[in-house]
Amino acid sequence: KSLVHYLLFVVCPVVRMARVFVYGTLKKAQPNYFRMENTSNGQAEFLARARTIEPYPLVITTKFNIPFLLNEPGTGQRVYGEIYRIDQKMLDFLDRFEGCPERYQRTEIQLEVQDGEGENTLKPGSIEEVFVYSRREPEWLQNQTYESYDAFGDHGLKYVLPEDRSPE
Ligand SMILES: *[C@@H]1O[C@H](CO)[C@@H](O)[C@H](O)[C@H]1NC(C)=O
Ligand SMILES: *[C@@H]1O[C@H](CO)[C@@H](O)[C@H](O)[C@H]1NC(C)=O
Repeated sequence: KSLVHYLLFVVCPVVRMARVFVYGTLKKAQPNYFRMENTSNGQAEFLARARTIEPYPLVITTKFNIPFLLNEPGTGQRVYGEIYRIDQKMLDFLDRFEGCPERYQRTEIQLEVQDGEGENTLKPGSIEEVFVYSRREPEWLQNQTYESYDAFGDHGLKYVLPEDRSPE
């Protein structure tokens, strides 16, 4: 079996899809989820809910109340989010949407799988390494951190969609 997998990997690398962890407005029921569902942007398939192995600061900031995961492992809280399997087209879309690499950097993060649904779900408790978009902004390290982002949460920090933002 492993030989077959090895040969598939070598012969057909193009079938391999990327996986991405979303922790903010791209999650289900959040303001940018429609972009994940829009097939003009590419394909995205929900795999499972997951939680970061390390704590990270998840802050909500700027006048647009944008959630940011700061690339400072070891501070903040273990953050909840969702893992998606995406094709190259969706990866390209997300890179553009997140302004990668200037605004956000796409790196790999270690996650503990919580639970999923459907046949392609990941095994609860397994450790996965997938892409995440995060930033390095030392000046936001003092801000309040959250373990799970909800645009409609008690914090009252209403997210402003990119198309509704006034120029700064
Ligand atoms: C899907 O994305 C395309 C390309 O950006 C856009 O023209 C279209 O309006 C979007 N559809 C929805 C339902 O958001
Ligand atoms: C971030 O923290 C600073 C210092 O505590 C505070 O002045 C600022 O209002 C906070 N910004 C946001 C967006 O919460």
